[in-house]
Amino acid sequence: MFLCIIIITYYRNLHGADIRGFSSVQAGDRPSLTSVIDLIERSEKPVVAAIEGMALGGGLEVALGCHYRIAHAQGQQGKPQLHIYWPVRTTVGICVATRDYICALKRTGQPLNPRRLSLKQVQSLPNMDAILSEVLVKVKKQARGCLSPEMCVQAVKASVQLPFTEGILKERELFNLLLTSGQAKALQYAFFAQRAAQKWTTPSGASWKTASAQPIRKVAVIGLGTMGRGIVTSLVKAKMSVVALEQDQKQLEVGGRAVTSLLEHEASKMQWSGQRPDACDPALLQFTLDFGVLQDVDLVIEAVFEDMALKKEIFHKLSAICKPGSFLCTNTSALDIDEIASATSRPHQVIGTHFFSPAHVMKLLEIIRGRHTSPITIATAMGLAKAIGKIGVVVGNCFGFVGNRMMAPYAEQAVFLLEEGCKPEEVDQALEGFGFNMGPFRMSDLAGLDVGWRSRKGQGLTGPELAPGTPARLRGRRRYSPLPDLLCENGRYGQKTGMGWYQYEKPGARIANPDPWLHNFLIGYRDAHHIKTRFIDEEEILERCLYTLINEGFQILDDGIASAPEDIDVIYIHGYGWPKHRGGPMFHASTIGLPRILAKLQKYSEAHPDIPRMQPSAFLKKLVSLGNPPLKEWMSHAGHQSSKL
Ligand code: NAI
Repeated sequence: MFLCIIIITYYRNLHGADIRGFSSVQAGDRPSLTSVIDLIERSEKPVVAAIEGMALGGGLEVALGCHYRIAHAQGQQGKPQLHIYWPVRTTVGICVATRDYICALKRTGQPLNPRRLSLKQVQSLPNMDAILSEVLVKVKKQARGCLSPEMCVQAVKASVQLPFTEGILKERELFNLLLTSGQAKALQYAFFAQRAAQKWTTPSGASWKTASAQPIRKVAVIGLGTMGRGIVTSLVKAKMSVVALEQDQKQLEVGGRAVTSLLEHEASKMQWSGQRPDACDPALLQFTLDFGVLQDVDLVIEAVFEDMALKKEIFHKLSAICKPGSFLCTNTSALDIDEIASATSRPHQVIGTHFFSPAHVMKLLEIIRGRHTSPITIATAMGLAKAIGKIGVVVGNCFGFVGNRMMAPYAEQAVFLLEEGCKPEEVDQALEGFGFNMGPFRMSDLAGLDVGWRSRKGQGLTGPELAPGTPARLRGRRRYSPLPDLLCENGRYGQKTGMGWYQYEKPGARIANPDPWLHNFLIGYRDAHHIKTRFIDEEEILERCLYTLINEGFQILDDGIASAPEDIDVIYIHGYGWPKHRGGPMFHASTIGLPRILAKLQKYSEAHPDIPRMQPSAFLKKLVSLGNPPLKEWMSHAGHQSSKL
């Protein structure tokens, strides 16, 4: 019998669909692939899929339709569509056939029916229904409103409970449901936004096209605290030589132990997933107290305390010690990059590299260009991000940059809502129901309330620098809530002290329990300040927190701090736990419709004239007056001309 073999040799991979085509696919168009697979499966000639690289998405589905699969020992199979919203031809196939990677050529001439997956029975366990129901509950909880994982379980369920043809119909029904849900569009947008963010440009015209990254082989990290130890781990994992520097022997030992344990943990994770763990080679690491050792490093990442004077002192030192070509990066979360750079003789080689905690896990790297930062420095920082498996996004320099600047009005609203009548758990539930990994109060307890307290004291908003006679709930003419300061004064720093906005079993415990002490404290606080407690519904919680955050995003676009809404969305998805199936805050705004957001902000700002961040941004107003143009067109109307080419 003539043997027909499907081999995709050119790409060496059996790839899936072109995602670019997804948005134009109409519900019901999909059978084209299904019918091709059916045709292959029904064929009287044996069809063999040869998989040398990866069999992804539709490619894997084609392979499953073949009668035999020959896979290279290092061939990989996967369903990336789950992340961009495509259901799986799970019915029968996945369950039966993935065990079936055998060398089949020698079987030529054998009957084909036993090789047709559609004719195979999915083995059903006696307690299958209970298992699937349990999985469904778990998957739903983890998915936080994202529908595709749940639909996949439903498709698997159909493969177990229904005959093949009915299972395929059920899968198509689930697929059409996903396609029309709106989430598919958001996930596809998020996918392309991440790509677009790599193509950075600056307002002065420099771009990824013309600036080339310098090779980075040896990096120094200054400070081995919460952030430094995660940064070192990421670098070592990427096989870079690292010099880790601390201020004294004790901190060096504590930090060194923490790094070693993180690397061991990473190595065991890699081993579990079948990777070679030798990427976490501790021999790449050198611990030191001596700045002199940094002479020959290609790049330095400073991660000492958030203190401008200290950072300037360190950058001054680095500028004198490091070789002329080395780049100097700061991990500051909000401070002025230009001021830090002014302490050096090479401001063009100074840049912000803002990692997110835990730094060896979180994907985002916000890259902050200062006024003098050269294009080569930006390209090198972006290259570093790529080398260590992070997603770099280039932004401009202002207090809090993009991510933390937008967080400020959001967190502020959350606290104002407590003043007016909410409990922390009500605000968190609303935002977690929206899809955030964590609501603002659980997040604040995790990060530590003392961090913000120190920053507010530094800004003179509370503490000894506050002018005597300042009203408790006003700073200038702006509304201020002293609630977080009062919690800190009561020793409630969050998880680390076993109490914050919630109570915990003991210091360091992670399970947040609603705290009757705090509820009473809020009642007493409202009484003391003559605030009438009122019921606040979920809609108001969401609108006030999210729309003020989005409003700041429009301001950031108008200021040229972010060069496109896609950049903001990538930052929020990968750094702040924004639900990917909602595309990011700016995409979300575009789906809600800018006129509605404007109207709500106008309503709330009239009710709260002392909250300036609720006043709709001029850019948002302009876009509404221009008839609510699509997101792609926003930047052509920004005050600060778009820097994307
Ligand atoms: P941390 O307090 O945990 O660690 C700072 C470390 O710097 C300490 O180990 C300290 O001994 C060391 N250090 C201080 N002075 C030094 C000197 N002169 N030479 C060498 N080492 C010195 O602080 P954390 O949280 O790691 O923050 C570091 C920086 O990262 C700050 O600028 C912070 O704003 C920023 N950041 C923090 C995030 C977080 O979630 N903790 C997130 C993103 C940025």
